[in-house]
Amino acid sequence: MDEITQSIRELYEEFPYPAGAPAIRVASDARLLMSYGSNPRTQEGPIKVLDAGCGRGVGLIANAITQPDVEFYGIDINRIAIAEIKDKVNTLGLDNVTVREVNLMTLEGLDIPEGGFDVIFSSGVLHHLSDPVQGLEKLRSVLAPHGVISLMVYATFGRQPLYRLIEATKLLIPDTASTRERIPHTRQLADFFNDGPFKGTPWEFVAQSNDTEFVDLCLNPNETSYSVESMWNLLTEADMHFLRWAVPSQWSIDQLPEGELRTRAQALSEYDQYRVIEQATWNRSLELIVGHAHNAPRPPLTEAELESTAFAVNPEVTFDINTRSLRTGKRIESISYTLGAVPDPVYSKSEAHANALMLLWDQTQAFTGDSFINFLEQDGVSNQDAKSILKEFTAEGLLYRPHTCDV
Ligand SMILES: C[S@@+](CC[C@H](N)C(=O)[O-])C[C@H]1O[C@@H](n2cnc3c(N)ncnc32)[C@H](O)[C@@H]1O
Repeated sequence: MDEITQSIRELYEEFPYPAGAPAIRVASDARLLMSYGSNPRTQEGPIKVLDAGCGRGVGLIANAITQPDVEFYGIDINRIAIAEIKDKVNTLGLDNVTVREVNLMTLEGLDIPEGGFDVIFSSGVLHHLSDPVQGLEKLRSVLAPHGVISLMVYATFGRQPLYRLIEATKLLIPDTASTRERIPHTRQLADFFNDGPFKGTPWEFVAQSNDTEFVDLCLNPNETSYSVESMWNLLTEADMHFLRWAVPSQWSIDQLPEGELRTRAQALSEYDQYRVIEQATWNRSLELIVGHAHNAPRPPLTEAELESTAFAVNPEVTFDINTRSLRTGKRIESISYTLGAVPDPVYSKSEAHANALMLLWDQTQAFTGDSFINFLEQDGVSNQDAKSILKEFTAEGLLYRPHTCDV
């Protein structure tokens, strides 16, 4: 193990990150993630997912519980965290999780499934590696041809105020002192930043975070960050490409004021639009889905394939149905849905939309466009309106298109 990896291991073994109960995160459903690439799975058998740098298993365990027919493999260099996950897996009786102490820089000791992993997660890890290009290349080497990687790395511009704190800390508090000894002074500085560079930014929470979070934020011995430009370069170096953002609305130019500015942004390339948004917003990380260079993004849905396509409700969607109990029965007051990390709920726009949402809210299996249209027609919705709703829900991300082999 190289010196940098060793120092990262020491840090995370002393301050195992992150604490907390299992949590379902965005961009973590295997079928949804694979649906973003054009290449379908060719192997038979269960879908296989690698969580590279799984930490204490907060995401890994939630995924294993909510996707019981998927096999999960968690790897990390943090031996304390690995032992903790093994205990949790035993306590919960999960039979679809395997965890190992494996260094992502070499992947020595990893059991690679025949044909490679279908999906790889690596959240908050790549930017701590001694050589992120090598790390990403390693991951690509164990990714199936149709496979996708869900990556989260720190954003250079969104974290600027924090990097100013880290810079000042390096000058004021020498790293000859232990990490634990540096915490109180660094906290004091973070507190001071609340009246300076942090003021009015999403970084005002730093001084109040617990020790584990604080160390992860401010005192990491090896950390890099990515801009859109350097991420695109990293992907090219690793022979991979961008499929989509985990939360596309966070990178959408629709956030810009309507009018001339928005029109100008629309004229830019997709890449330059993202570069504008990274300057104009506080996106603190880049959360993106990438694939092999030959696995193109899934083409948009066409009118001709609407009826025969398989659809499924996006597992990141939460429905909110408000009802009142009246003497005449239950009355529905409002129906809305919220997509993953997008804060604003989407309310039904018409009675036909409301009927469609009622149809979808308890739908756990995939269905064809044809059956959805037929159901709505039985409720008195016209064929044209049913098709428009299907297209609208797909464009908004409420519905996704699993590959037929994954239905
Ligand atoms: C910020 S934590 C993120 C943990 C987890 N992915 C999550 O989101 O909850 C970074 C993790 O990466 C692990 N890590 C860092 N370098 C690694 C390497 N070379 N190989 C495997 N794991 C590594 C650390 O031990 C730590 O658990």
